[in-house]
Amino acid sequence: MGRIILTGDRPTGKLHLGHYVGSLRNRVVLQNEGNYDRMFVFIADVQALTDNADNPEKVRQNIAEVALDYLSCGLDPSKVTIFIQSMIPELHEMTQFFSNLVTVARLQRNPTVKTEMAMRGYHEGGDGEDNKRGLPVGFFTYPISQAADICAFKSTTVPVGDDQEPMIEQCREIVRSFNSTYGPVLVEPEILLPSNLFCRRLPGTDGKAKMSKSLGNCIYLSDDPKEMEAKVKSMFTDPGHLRVEDPGKIEGNTVFIYLDAFCEDSDFAKYWPEYNNLQEVKEHYMRGGLGDMKCKKFLINVLNDRLDPVRARRHEYEQDIPEVFNILRKGSDAAREVAARTLHEMKDAMKINYFEDAALIAQQAAKYK
Ligand code: TRP
Repeated sequence: MGRIILTGDRPTGKLHLGHYVGSLRNRVVLQNEGNYDRMFVFIADVQALTDNADNPEKVRQNIAEVALDYLSCGLDPSKVTIFIQSMIPELHEMTQFFSNLVTVARLQRNPTVKTEMAMRGYHEGGDGEDNKRGLPVGFFTYPISQAADICAFKSTTVPVGDDQEPMIEQCREIVRSFNSTYGPVLVEPEILLPSNLFCRRLPGTDGKAKMSKSLGNCIYLSDDPKEMEAKVKSMFTDPGHLRVEDPGKIEGNTVFIYLDAFCEDSDFAKYWPEYNNLQEVKEHYMRGGLGDMKCKKFLINVLNDRLDPVRARRHEYEQDIPEVFNILRKGSDAAREVAARTLHEMKDAMKINYFEDAALIAQQAAKYK
């Protein structure tokens, strides 16, 4: 059986280095390996609206932003179908059918839903009175809609961060339930995690567990070199490492976590020939005698090396935004054809094909003779 890759992002903001090391970089590798039958990457605007219903303009403004991030990272529309979720109405029909196969209790147990509910202050019983923020049904059930995103394209492989593991597991359960109830139409997907452990969750520049817009600790792909440099220079390191001579700690040191995620041995010959590899730098830092600023300057060089081509492509696409929308429109048309085919197969299996089923019509007619 062939491999079909699918993944997507919510358009609630610009993409940052966490997205880059956690998935964008790997998508480009997957694209260029060509080791699959088809690859889809999409902008999950319907999902973004599940907790932004009152702010559609935010979602709308970030469509082009995310598309630019994709294209500038090197996703190539001649190799990858890039589309917008809301342009595929078949996904809603699938979501509706899937929702009959999932219990409320199962959704309540989904760890990602639980964490995200807590982050947003949603309460299951809340209705705005007693100051408890109500939980939108659409938000609560978004794992079902995400299963439709995956199944519509018969995706085998979903490259995402480990926070999405419960989503993929829930999708697999839905597939098994659908196939055993109606017939073998859908494909169980597998998650594809980043291979470098340090890439699974890049901390913010302040050392907090995650880059997030609300914490103001992100380095964006669209930051210019000056902004990026200032952010790296103010990065959290080892608070106990006061003087250069002091021994420093690597663990929890944001600069070293970033270096683990970004640097390669070849960067040393290019930017820091005193060392052969990161291990030597770490040993020196732990012994004492290596200052934070030297490490930060190296990190800046490494990041610029990775981001310069991204910036150059972004600059080109920014000059032709109508073409960016054109790419999205063509991708959405192509994606819709695939989703429509899968939905047709699903409805056939569910026997929701009344007008096409001459035997049904004959049998019904006979019943009333
Ligand atoms: N939930 C994903 C995120 O927050 C985005 C997403 C929506 C997705 N549908 C998907 C990812 C389908 C992979 C496959 O990042």
